[in-house]
Order: sequence, then C-alpha cells, then structure tokens
Amino acid sequence: MTFACREDDVPPGEGRNITIEGRRIALFRTDTGWYAVDAVCPHKGGPLADGIVCDHAVTCPLHDRSFDLRTGEGPGEDRIGTYAVEVRAGEVYVAVGVPAASPVAA
Ligand code: FES
Repeated sequence: MTFACREDDVPPGEGRNITIEGRRIALFRTDTGWYAVDAVCPHKGGPLADGIVCDHAVTCPLHDRSFDLRTGEGPGEDRIGTYAVEVRAGEVYVAVGVPAASPVAA
C-alpha cells in the first residue's frame, strides 16, 4: 500500500488524479466508498477523474462511456484497471497491482 493523499483532500462525490509508482490513477470518494482506477479512459484517453460519479460508476467526460468503479467494466470490450484502497487514520492508501476486492467506506 502506498500513501495517496489525506482523506480530507478529496471531498465526497469527487475524484482526484494521483500518480503511484509511475501509474496514473483516478481516486474517487463516493457515497458507497473509496475507489481507485486507471486515470485514462481506454476509449480515447479521457480524464476519468474529471468524470461524473454516481453510486459506483464514473462517466467519462469526453464521450459519456460509464465504467463500474468496482470491477472496471465498461461498454463492450472497454475495461479499466481497479486497485485496492485503504483508509487509515485519515490517510488514504492505494495498492497498485492489487485488484480491488471491495470498496472502503467513505
Ligand atoms: S475518451 Fe472516454 S468515452 Fe471517449
């Protein structure tokens, strides 16, 4: 697990771009928990951290494709990587290379 940010750095309902071990990650704090996924949309490179988040899905701001933040599944063959998140004592940690099992409560 690698330190990503402080819990207060991401307001509820928003996403942030972070870089961990050279990988660009979009970190989201939602009503259903914290999620970390690949930051770049597989369609045409849209910035997923700037997308609209609802429940456990993010919609890419460029062409409105939605991705499940739990599984990374999108439309058709499109898919993004998901990563485990832990919140400890007000600090958020992400494990790059470790698939997300379940969201951490917001
Ligand atoms: S770049 Fe994300 S939907 Fe097109």
